[in-house]
Amino acid sequence: MSPDPIAIASDHGGFELKALLKEELAARGHAVIDLGSNDRDSVDYPDYAQALAQAIGAGKARRGILICGTGIGMSIAANRHPFLRAALVHDAFTARMARAHNDANVLVLGGRTIGPEIAKDCLAVFLDTAFEGGGRHARRVEKLSRLPASS
Ligand code: RB5
Repeated sequence: MSPDPIAIASDHGGFELKALLKEELAARGHAVIDLGSNDRDSVDYPDYAQALAQAIGAGKARRGILICGTGIGMSIAANRHPFLRAALVHDAFTARMARAHNDANVLVLGGRTIGPEIAKDCLAVFLDTAFEGGGRHARRVEKLSRLPASS
């Protein structure tokens, strides 16, 4: 089975890391759906998180990657979509937990907070780690999908 397509987007704070991770994804055989941004001009991260949510919502990709300067803005924006579980990770351990315990479908990275080798580690672990499923983790993720928008 060929690797699934991966959607990726960044703002100007993540543009350089996006270019690097696109190479990694291509080397692993993934088709890459690059939703911008396309240069270092200042842009608004919610617009790019929204583009990625639309791509996943439309079924163009099952998994995605978002990058801004810190990863914080992209996380806040992405997690407004109930079908996204976006995890801001900082190292291989948090990347592994994001998949194994949280079944994260969006990897979020800070282009200004981690170096390229750590980012590549995070990507590899995110792609290769399965959700543990069953029992308590599945119950908790299921509860996430049922959380009311406000109460
Ligand atoms: C842009 O300067 C920066 O605020 C943005 O990339 C991100 O870090 C926001 O959370």
